Amino acid sequence: MKIAVAGTGYVGLVTGVCLAEHSHSVTCVDIDDKKIALMRAGISPIYEPGLEELLVNNMERLNFTTDYKEAYKDANVIFIGVGTPEKQDGSANLSFVYGVAQQIAESIEKDCVVVVKSTVPIGTNDKIEDLIKSKLVHDVNVYVASNPEFLAQGTAVRDTLHASRIVIGVEEPYAGEILKEVYKDFNAPIVVTNRKSAEMIKYASNDFLALKISFINEIANLCEIIGADIEDVTLGMGYDKRIGDRFLNAGIGYGGSCFPKDTKALHWLANFHDNELKTVKAAIDVNENQKLKLIKKSRKYFSSFNGLNVAVLGLTFKPGTDDLREAPTLVNIPIMIEDGANIKAWDPVGVENFKKKYPDEITYCNTIEGTIMDADVCFIFTEWDEVKSFDLSKYSKLMKTPIVLDGRNCYDLTSARKANIIYDSVGRETISSFEVSLV
Ligand code: UDX
Repeated sequence: MKIAVAGTGYVGLVTGVCLAEHSHSVTCVDIDDKKIALMRAGISPIYEPGLEELLVNNMERLNFTTDYKEAYKDANVIFIGVGTPEKQDGSANLSFVYGVAQQIAESIEKDCVVVVKSTVPIGTNDKIEDLIKSKLVHDVNVYVASNPEFLAQGTAVRDTLHASRIVIGVEEPYAGEILKEVYKDFNAPIVVTNRKSAEMIKYASNDFLALKISFINEIANLCEIIGADIEDVTLGMGYDKRIGDRFLNAGIGYGGSCFPKDTKALHWLANFHDNELKTVKAAIDVNENQKLKLIKKSRKYFSSFNGLNVAVLGLTFKPGTDDLREAPTLVNIPIMIEDGANIKAWDPVGVENFKKKYPDEITYCNTIEGTIMDADVCFIFTEWDEVKSFDLSKYSKLMKTPIVLDGRNCYDLTSARKANIIYDSVGRETISSFEVSLV
């Protein structure tokens, strides 16, 4: 089977490389010739653990090109894996998806299954099929299938090779059979449904997870007020299989390329149909507030950041990625800068991306020790392993005032109690080893 993949971002490239790993010949198409040159040289243009190794191992089955006509003309299956970024009004921007659909229509010279992997609003697959059919240059049959992607950044390769499920949304059996053949070696449950249901599975899954996080964050906030401990609360909840123990980590809110965008897109879609998704709206509102939680907490210790030495540990929206999209740092750090803070920041992989936004306003450090040296306060925004395994006694040894505001609950309270610091985390007792007077 000849397979082409449009787009070499997280979804497209991981899909292409994992299909090659399962013995398919795959041509990956992108408009960016610099990216194509990198991939041809065996270099992944995105930071994703395990991806480059898999790419190199499968070079003989992988092609990379900007020449979409050549890639699509005799493909049996074309995956669309281009981005659907959020527009100003919260709806999804589909111009890249429709652009690829147009190119497919111009290029295909034989019957073809077009598989939409990009996250698109419900009903978009129908529109893509109409668009392709209306613009076809050759007299061929086109079948559009929805095949949403559930990979998470940082674990994208594992999530694809060992998928929890493969969802296939089709309007006739042919495309379903072809896709089952494509995925025959993937060893995952396959759910075959119609296209709109497949599109909805993706949104409902992401929005449910976002809801779970916002729910637990609200419970954590209440735990702080009443004196309960969120870690114990979630441990006790998680044993109930109906609830599950995953995605119950309280913190400073979800970021990334999916949850913020997909909650807003589904909410927008419901509104468009004169409907209201109150739970999803609540998840969005709670998350926006939660992102500012540490700044609000810091007001207990400082009335202003002006002139303060602020250490920032972690810039990315989660560990295992250099992605900054919707990261809580992007709303917190501008406030600190505006307020006159002297910021030093550390992140194992996110610095280069952050520098593009803030080249001069922040001092970037290579070590955690260098970052916290002489700091008046330390903010933890991402739970990198290096932060979690950091010797807590160093905070009191190196910082001017060892106040640690942890948005990701990296340390247990027993260790924090021994560390001679103020340790203020999410949904737990604040450990105050010394008194501070508000400055
Ligand atoms: C998510 C989905 O997990 C994936 O299935 C979908 O295809 C794309 O969106 P991703 O955005 O890469 O993947 O990361 P994920 O690990 O889900 O984390 C998203 C955000 O939620 C991060 O900011 C993370 O810190 C936060 N989160 C996650 C929590 O705050 N608490 C949790 O318990 C889990």
